[in-house]
Amino acid sequence: MLNARLEAMTDHTFKRLANLLAELQPRANVPPINLSVGEPQHQPPPFVAEIVARHKTDWNLYPTFYGSPELRRACAAWVTRRYTLPAGMIEPDQQVAIVAGTREGLYSAATLAITPTESGKRPLALIPNPFYQVYLGATVLAGAEPVFLPATRATGFLPDLDAIGADTLARTQVMYLCSPANPQGAVASLDYLKKALLLARKHDFLLVMDECYSELYNTPAPPPGGLDAAKALGGGLDNLIVFNTLSKRSSSPGLRSGFAVGSPHTIMLLNRLRSYSAAASPLAVMDAATACWSDEVHVEAMRKHYRAIYDMAERVLGKRYGFYKPDGGFYLWLDVGDGEDACKRLWGEAAVRVLPGAYMTRPNADGSNDGKPYIRIALVGDLESTEAALTRMTRVL
Ligand SMILES: Cc1ncc(COP(=O)(O)O)c(C=O)c1O
Repeated sequence: MLNARLEAMTDHTFKRLANLLAELQPRANVPPINLSVGEPQHQPPPFVAEIVARHKTDWNLYPTFYGSPELRRACAAWVTRRYTLPAGMIEPDQQVAIVAGTREGLYSAATLAITPTESGKRPLALIPNPFYQVYLGATVLAGAEPVFLPATRATGFLPDLDAIGADTLARTQVMYLCSPANPQGAVASLDYLKKALLLARKHDFLLVMDECYSELYNTPAPPPGGLDAAKALGGGLDNLIVFNTLSKRSSSPGLRSGFAVGSPHTIMLLNRLRSYSAAASPLAVMDAATACWSDEVHVEAMRKHYRAIYDMAERVLGKRYGFYKPDGGFYLWLDVGDGEDACKRLWGEAAVRVLPGAYMTRPNADGSNDGKPYIRIALVGDLESTEAALTRMTRVL
């Protein structure tokens, strides 16, 4: 008598990976290297631990649910600087919600958007394919039918917005977009983002921008975001919610700290929903997060680190496996012919753990799976071990 939708869900990506590799022994005479998870291995800036330590007598206190005013202000100031928004466009007390990691916020966004239709037909949720798993669980459990939009090499690794049918758009209640995209690293242009937001406004759905990788880029200028599109189009933040996190930018996934920016009504409802369902961020975390959003020096160092890793990857891999240096993020999305097979061989023969692309995609209507030929490699280790992993990979594959 449990939730049938939940029973029908597939296991989460990493559980599937664990099952795939369960029977295999990794090659014994070399240290195992795990590049399957997007978890940065280097430390956050030292002030994070110092600030958290200062709060040692605060653990008896319930944190304020809506986030500290200082953190909301730091987030509003950060987006205002980052996207050169007009002063006052983002009102910290009304337009910023503090979330305990964007995973939780992105999940809540589906419940925020999806509502029963008058026709009784299931509402639709547009999801890029491949995709971050939370979009799927969130939309299906909120009662929507997912529609997967291919984001292949042929479409520039982003969904082709012109290819979405009118019938689909008419029933759509939410669309998730990720830029820079996980796993392909494609960055949506300002024109693309404006088109997405115009579609959302025309068909009255919520555009959920997942911008977790916005600060890790290989391009001369930082990637544009949903807020650039809103600024260019006018109309405030109607039909838009933008998520960002410290997990990648500040190498702090352990803090579980992110934020959402949206219209006052959207943020009020998100906070209402979260007051029933989600955890507030601890006071220590909120203070550390305030400092992180107020500092760019450590972020510049992160970018430098990832750029050096990408340069090394280009040197080691050359043109193999369709290598390209993505515009953003910290992944490689490599065409190795058969991702699951390559993943097993890499673990068994080289003790290198990566993710089969098909664990991030859903099959197309004809049964083909665009992720099947790929593996995703998270370049989250130090330069030396990542170079060792990629070199081992070229030998095995
Ligand atoms: C595309 C994408 N969105 C969201 C998240 C969640 O990040 P967090 O919950 O740590 O903020 C991740 C984490 O890997 C991700 O890859």
